[in-house]
Amino acid sequence: MSYIYRLAGENLELAEAELNSFLRSQGLEEKCERQKQLAFTDSEPSQLRRLGLVHEVCEKVEASELKVSGRYAVRAENLAEKEFDNKKNEKKLGKKLSRLANKVDLENPETVIKTYNTDKGLHHGVLIDKLPRGKFNQRSNEKRPYSSPISLDPVLARVLVNLSEAKFGETLLDPFCGTGGILIEAGLCGIGVRGLDIQEDMISGTRKNLEEYGIINHSIKKEDVSNALKHFDPDVIVTDLPYGKASRSENRPVQKFVELINEFDGKTVFMYDKPKLEDHRPQFELKVHKSLTRYIYKV
Ligand SMILES: C[S@@+](CC[C@H](N)C(=O)[O-])C[C@H]1O[C@@H](n2cnc3c(N)ncnc32)[C@H](O)[C@@H]1O
Repeated sequence: MSYIYRLAGENLELAEAELNSFLRSQGLEEKCERQKQLAFTDSEPSQLRRLGLVHEVCEKVEASELKVSGRYAVRAENLAEKEFDNKKNEKKLGKKLSRLANKVDLENPETVIKTYNTDKGLHHGVLIDKLPRGKFNQRSNEKRPYSSPISLDPVLARVLVNLSEAKFGETLLDPFCGTGGILIEAGLCGIGVRGLDIQEDMISGTRKNLEEYGIINHSIKKEDVSNALKHFDPDVIVTDLPYGKASRSENRPVQKFVELINEFDGKTVFMYDKPKLEDHRPQFELKVHKSLTRYIYKV
């Protein structure tokens, strides 16, 4: 069996890396094969709803083997450079399938057949899951019990969690947890969450936010980053470093973070506002807006 993932977002390399890290978090060694917005795997996926940069997942089917029983709908999407008549394609496939005594039901189909037109030809699949990406908006900063302008966007936070390859049941530490943006997303993936921050209001705010989303496996402490491994023994570290003035303050958070990751032997994923941190170089550059760039590192 093969699977098709319809990737989301403008940074398709990041979406591909998220998917590959997600596969490893499921204990699968395979890497996806990407063709622009589509990625293909042979491994059977589970916990699909962990993914932040995927719209939907299909089981791949050859056109000649397409079969449905019961009510169905065909949905075509053009991903090629050239124009493509989606409606015509939907009708053509629909006609073929209705000859097999099925019934088209666009409102409430039992089976959805997807057809993606790409520069390399058509790909067909039976939709397994359409990921409810609107749920990320429901957790946006202003909708949480405790918020601050420093909070990380939930989709980006989820991608960082997945890049860490943390498995269900493992523990993740954010040593600069702020309002808990990363910890919320990790907790919702079934990962135990540990957090530190030097500000008391961030600590109480993070606890409130985690409880709002039903995340109970957490431990959040008011501490300096340099004490992280005295308190916790995490499987992975994922964080968003202090920026600007805060990063240069006399408590030297960034310097202490470098010491922490040198001592830590698990995977570390972090965001930073510079394209270099000591010997480390980022894997991804994100243009947040015209004058703001962030870099994602995986160590
Ligand atoms: C960029 S913010 C993190 C935002 C967070 N990702 C969120 O979604 O809210 C960085 C955080 O690091 C904390 N911080 C700064 N210096 C620290 C230190 N030495 N030890 C621990 N936390 C520190 C700040 O209080 C701030 O909340």
